[in-house]
Amino acid sequence: MTAAHPRVTVRTADAGDLAAVAIIENLCFGDPWSLPALLSELEPDPMRLPLAAEADGQVVGFLMAWLVTDQLHVLNIAADPHWRRQGIGTALLREAARRGRALGLVEATLEVRRGNVAGRAFYQRHGFHETGVRKRYYADNGEDAIILDCDLDTLAEG
Ligand SMILES: CC(C)(COP(=O)(O)OP(=O)(O)OC[C@H]1O[C@@H](n2cnc3c(N)ncnc32)[C@H](O)[C@@H]1OP(=O)(O)O)[C@@H](O)C(=O)NCCC(=O)NCCS
Repeated sequence: MTAAHPRVTVRTADAGDLAAVAIIENLCFGDPWSLPALLSELEPDPMRLPLAAEADGQVVGFLMAWLVTDQLHVLNIAADPHWRRQGIGTALLREAARRGRALGLVEATLEVRRGNVAGRAFYQRHGFHETGVRKRYYADNGEDAIILDCDLDTLAEG
């Protein structure tokens, strides 16, 4: 468990978190993942890292990542809109980076929509840099994906 905001802790998420995760997913994304897709990330798998942030006994954010060779590939990170700008996303990202580093990974990578101003500011704040663009990556609106990388030491230590 990692202490972040005084009322927030980060722990491993599991299938029991599916309902709470799905609520946040649907509040945060215009193209939310389906329940089966979310569940597959929450089931035990040494290649997957699902984390939940809790405050006052309630899930207020989550992160899902894959452990791929020496990379932590962040698939999804979201904070309950009522809990934004209180360090939830930061606590999740740092815990993922610490766990990845402990497993010998060296870099975090992810894709973010070109138009996701908050997401891009958040990642920039944490030291991510742009390494490429996947043109028209998102099927729902043809938006480009910006590829971002960050070394895990930077991410873990903040
Ligand atoms: C991106 C997201 C996870 C950030 O979560 P959060 O808990 O609000 O983030 P934090 O409180 O840890 O923010 C840390 C820093 O990131 C930056 N940041 C976060 N949100 C920002 C915003 N809306 N605008 C500008 N900068 C922002 C700031 O530098 C912030 O520090 P500050 O509050 O002291 O200025 C959240 O906005 C979210 O769930 N968005 C919807 C889902 C999404 O787009 N996910 C990312 C793509 S997969």
